[in-house]
Amino acid sequence: MDKLIVHGGSTLKGSINISGAKNASLPILAAALLTEEDVIIRRVPDVSDTNYMIQILSALGAEVERSSGTVRINAANIISDAPYELVRKMRASICVMGPLLTRLGKATVSLPGGCVIGDRPVDLHLKGLRAIGADINMEGGNMDMKAPNGLTGTEVDLRGKHGPTVLGTDNLMMAAVLAKGTTIIESAACEPEVVDLANFLNSMGAKIEGAGTRRVTIEGVEKLHGVEHTIIPDRIEAGTYMVAGAMAGCPDNGITLNRVNQDHLIPVTEKLIEAGHSVEFSTAGNSVTVKPGKNPKGCKITTAPHPNFPTDMQAQFSSLFAVTPGISVIEDTIFPQRFMHCAEMSRMGADMKVDNGTAVITGVEQLSAAPVMASDLRASAALVLSALTAKGSTEISRLYHIDRGYEHIDEKLLLLGANVERVRE
Ligand code: EPU
Repeated sequence: MDKLIVHGGSTLKGSINISGAKNASLPILAAALLTEEDVIIRRVPDVSDTNYMIQILSALGAEVERSSGTVRINAANIISDAPYELVRKMRASICVMGPLLTRLGKATVSLPGGCVIGDRPVDLHLKGLRAIGADINMEGGNMDMKAPNGLTGTEVDLRGKHGPTVLGTDNLMMAAVLAKGTTIIESAACEPEVVDLANFLNSMGAKIEGAGTRRVTIEGVEKLHGVEHTIIPDRIEAGTYMVAGAMAGCPDNGITLNRVNQDHLIPVTEKLIEAGHSVEFSTAGNSVTVKPGKNPKGCKITTAPHPNFPTDMQAQFSSLFAVTPGISVIEDTIFPQRFMHCAEMSRMGADMKVDNGTAVITGVEQLSAAPVMASDLRASAALVLSALTAKGSTEISRLYHIDRGYEHIDEKLLLLGANVERVRE
């Protein structure tokens, strides 16, 4: 298991390119199962989650070739059983359900297991697929689905107690594109990744309207065709490096991130500015420079579905607030148990009190290095950010968590002037 050693105290400068979005790539790779023709997807980040998805597609019988960010998939001959050994490694594997069911009339996919960021049920996925005619049974840890008479569009509300569901919306959208008639998803997720999937499906010949709003209408078509598509920039990777710029960037020039989408970064930008930092986008909105402010201050963040502040950025802001004067409050309404990073940061000297889905953080002058353990993807990113400004050398173990979603993080940090070493064990 690799470790990352971060020697704290370097000033970050220069520029890097942001990768394609992991969370757009995963459902889009799965959506290649919807056609017999070749699909070419560009800017797929080289992270272990996209590798798992590619392995699942191969195990389902698809031919897959990958070279420097471009993936070509041909799913002419596929089977309906997704293997447990691969599916269990990644929750997002469940987005093969919709495509398999609608294309083959049946699918068997393991129920995803527990997750460190909290309870992650699949009831809304099942509600959506059942509403359009799937017959679903749970057996031996598997979700066994059939639609012997095909799927038929209807209206379905996908709102759960924590709001809309991203992958649940994706699954229903993917199943509905080949269903008979019209499906209307009410309370749909409107994250940019859902819009990217809808754009991908529409360019394959699907008829989807309203993606990016709470009401998505899908008129079923007979067949989809091959397509070439470029994945949107990863707004969470960009947001993570924006926080790095605010925490450790050179005060004069900061750091610059290229290949970003300004519109996807609004909530993160607003909070960095409110916390006293400088964020400047290029006129085209595809490049951003972040500099640390002279008088940073704590603030309050409440995570909520897009277009509000993303849960996938709260751990990174915890790192920022750990060393920001004043008291900050972070509430996660989507995953109230997603605060594992706080215990690890406390070992580095952070003052954080977590109770009932809320962290109250009192900024300290500086954190100090300690051996810490990554517990999930965004928590690990937060530990790296903390380590960049901590006194001494922080050893972060279980680096595989970060490799799930940050493309070549050690190389990008080195490019920005950080002093980091990956130790392979
Ligand atoms: N939920 C239900 N029932 C369901 C599905 C979800 O109650 O059937 C609840 C969840 O427990 C949660 C809320 O609804 O409280 C939202 O979960 P959602 O379904 O939107 O999460 P997801 O689609 O499984 C995606 C991202 C996550 C991100 C969440 C929320 C991918 C591959 N994953 O997960 O990303 O945190 O949306 O924005 O797109 C990450 O990248 O680190 C990550 C965890």
